[in-house]
Amino acid sequence: MSALAPPTRPTFHRAASTFVDEIATARTDLSRKLLLGDSPSNASPDSESTPSLLSPGSDSSSSPKSLVAGSPITPPEDAEIVANSFAFAFDIDGVLIRGGRVIPEAIQAMKVLNGENEYGIRIPYIFLTNGGGKSEAERCNDLSKQLEVEISPAQFICGHTPMSEMASKHNTVLVVGGEGEKCRHVAQSYGFKDVVTPGDIIKTDSATTPFRKLTPEEHKNSKTRDFSNVAIEAVFVFADSRDWAGDLQIILDLAMSKGGRIGTRSEAFDEGPPIYFSHNDVVWSAAHDHVRLGMGALRGIVEYTFKEVTKGKTLETFAFGKPQIGTFEFATRLLKRWRKNAHKLNAPPETVYFVGDTPESDIRGTNNYNERAENDWYSILVKTGVYQDGTEPAYKPRATVHSVLDAVNHGIEREMKRRLQTSPPMQKPKMPEISKLSLEDGEVRVFSPIEERTLAMWAS
Ligand code: G3P
Ligand code: MG
Repeated sequence: MSALAPPTRPTFHRAASTFVDEIATARTDLSRKLLLGDSPSNASPDSESTPSLLSPGSDSSSSPKSLVAGSPITPPEDAEIVANSFAFAFDIDGVLIRGGRVIPEAIQAMKVLNGENEYGIRIPYIFLTNGGGKSEAERCNDLSKQLEVEISPAQFICGHTPMSEMASKHNTVLVVGGEGEKCRHVAQSYGFKDVVTPGDIIKTDSATTPFRKLTPEEHKNSKTRDFSNVAIEAVFVFADSRDWAGDLQIILDLAMSKGGRIGTRSEAFDEGPPIYFSHNDVVWSAAHDHVRLGMGALRGIVEYTFKEVTKGKTLETFAFGKPQIGTFEFATRLLKRWRKNAHKLNAPPETVYFVGDTPESDIRGTNNYNERAENDWYSILVKTGVYQDGTEPAYKPRATVHSVLDAVNHGIEREMKRRLQTSPPMQKPKMPEISKLSLEDGEVRVFSPIEERTLAMWAS
């Protein structure tokens, strides 16, 4: 064994490539073993306290041992190693995308999550954005191209996704926001039977918005209706408005109406339909250097103007999206289904790392939800969006990092460290055949500190 005594300073001659590969492979196996926690005293697969990896389809009672038993050091290449006890949830604007452009680190972060990491593990992840305005499938299509990895609607939630659960509760609804007819189509795809848009109301009565004329495209797509016998039972603001003045006027007309009947006025101004906003972000990070006004600002203006116009009446509106607890409960159900269907993982993850750029929605929501969630929702704040480095975030994250890539590495390393802390000292791994360590004449090989430590472990 003397040849392998860990050198304080590298003095070995080695066939650089083979030896480095050896070391690299050994280190990956070592880390996986550590993550697997397969030392005899810790081999009880159902000890949930240890972050673990599972090959899909196997429950915690079998895999670890079988993985290790199968191939003494590394599982067969095609074995998909999936992290079982932790997962990620990602915000989009300001984390992965900024002003329609992909944030460079995001592509690398997706690669790391899909196995291109030193442990060779895949980590389940979902997306939870307050944005919206197109179908989940269309948004995932765009995102897949931008992030160069396939994103499924089954792992994706946008601001209006949870509103789909209200389709059976209301018949005729007004849907506001987004580009052209997109939001009407999304609402119809959710099962809303009768969807009205501001364009329909303006086309039917252009006096509704004195200074707003429909474009030829909007006029063509909008439908005139006899609103005298139509009761709009609810207003859904699905996406950021493209016409704040017109949408504000029409939402207020309904809020002051008798039971959602366009053109009517309630005496007490308390007979209007409920008004739901898909989120409450007052600002968000778009292409501009400074944050831009978001749907939450429109919501504030609607409530403020109602109070002004009704001489002090209060209009209570409702918001979906982050930081609402309901949205995180919805995300927990989606993550559970995704892990089961895509990774055959049944038990809930111990830790969900939520990566966001907006303290008021991402961090506040994650921290609040963590207080009541069964598992640990760990908030990570990045500096590539709304949050400005050096300022004090209104809601304190568990960690602040520069980019989403740093956030992913932070989560993986934290799991690794937790694993090391919780697992008893490791059984020394079996050394590879000495014969393999051939020395090429004249070659000098420098060992990195980690290689030295590994060698030391082997040699000890
Ligand atoms: O309009 C959406 C924006 O307010 C925030 O989106 O992805 O950061 O939740 P996101
Ligand atoms: Mg964001």
